[in-house]
Amino acid sequence: MSDAVRAPDWAYAEIDRLMARGAAFFGSRYAIMGGAMSWVSERHLVAALSNAGAFGVIACGAMEPPRLAEEIAGTQALTQKPFGVNLITMHPRLEQLVDVCLEAKVGHIVFAGGIPPGSAIKKAKEGGAKVVCFAPALVLAKRMIRSGADALVIEGSEAGGHIGPVSLNVLAQEILPHITEVPVFVAGGIGRGEAILSYLEMGAAGAQLGTRFVCATECIAHPAFKQAFIRGAARDAMPTVQLDETFPVIPVRALQNAGTKRFLEHQAETIRRFRAGELDKDAAQLDIEHFWAGALRRAVIEGDVENGSLMAGQSVGMVTKEQPAAEIIAELIGQAATAIAARGRNAA
Ligand SMILES: Cc1cc2nc3c(=O)[nH]c(=O)nc-3n(C[C@H](O)[C@H](O)[C@H](O)COP(=O)(O)O)c2cc1C
Repeated sequence: MSDAVRAPDWAYAEIDRLMARGAAFFGSRYAIMGGAMSWVSERHLVAALSNAGAFGVIACGAMEPPRLAEEIAGTQALTQKPFGVNLITMHPRLEQLVDVCLEAKVGHIVFAGGIPPGSAIKKAKEGGAKVVCFAPALVLAKRMIRSGADALVIEGSEAGGHIGPVSLNVLAQEILPHITEVPVFVAGGIGRGEAILSYLEMGAAGAQLGTRFVCATECIAHPAFKQAFIRGAARDAMPTVQLDETFPVIPVRALQNAGTKRFLEHQAETIRRFRAGELDKDAAQLDIEHFWAGALRRAVIEGDVENGSLMAGQSVGMVTKEQPAAEIIAELIGQAATAIAARGRNAA
């Protein structure tokens, strides 16, 4: 079925109904979150997504509080629509970053990268913001809700960037039927509206997509970074390989390039030096961890797609061209509505 044929209005109304809880939670037209992507999700992409009816989220990453304040103000200058801020829980100035969000009247704070400290959740909520947490398992989902999470994101291992071990297909079955107290948003490997529809019907409140938005026209990522996404296939977006269990490596899904090959050589050489007594264990571990320092910025901003980190989800194969954010959102919603309409026709 062609994406170009507009589905009937009743099919769009059905999508609105399925997205109602998630959209009301964000105050957006659609329950689609722009997954925060460090260096990528800055004011231009975030505002474009929110203006298109989705919910843009700024990636704070390693930004210091004054820099985050600047980025929020910059985004507010580009959109009147709501957007959120994603904070990494291990940031040394996490609570100050929460303060920055509250001062700027950001309505939604997403805590990523681990279990957020209770004090940060409390501060955010007392300041009037809604709190969104990542839940990598059912027990943790329940614990986050007890700690005050107003909504959850479950992110499968198909996703781009830092990943857990379990696919969204399984997480959705394990978590969605059991969590009704708060809206749950699904993430990882989603590139089309039909997939969003299927998760909505399983009980998700909405979906978070990252990779699919990298080639938005408004996104400031370097043209070479975007080209890598346009060329990339699902099988090219692989998790980092760990050579030795003595030296754990954080799993990150990214497109394979010269950097990922050199990382294997770097691990092998570092382990050799450790075994030869040239490095102690801590120094060797640090040496391995430092390999990727600054690598995402190198790829996204400088366009060094050979040596930088090309974090991307398995959905990368569904990125085929650069197009405005509003067109991507319209396509996703159109695909979901078309799928519903086809059922109506089949039943008739
Ligand atoms: C380039 C890139 C950078 C990312 N950086 C972050 C980040 O800083 N914080 C975060 O919580 N998630 C980050 N993510 C994950 C996204 O927010 C989102 O959950 C993920 O992209 C969803 O999977 P998908 O890429 O298959 O759509 C990143 C993903 C990508 C592709």
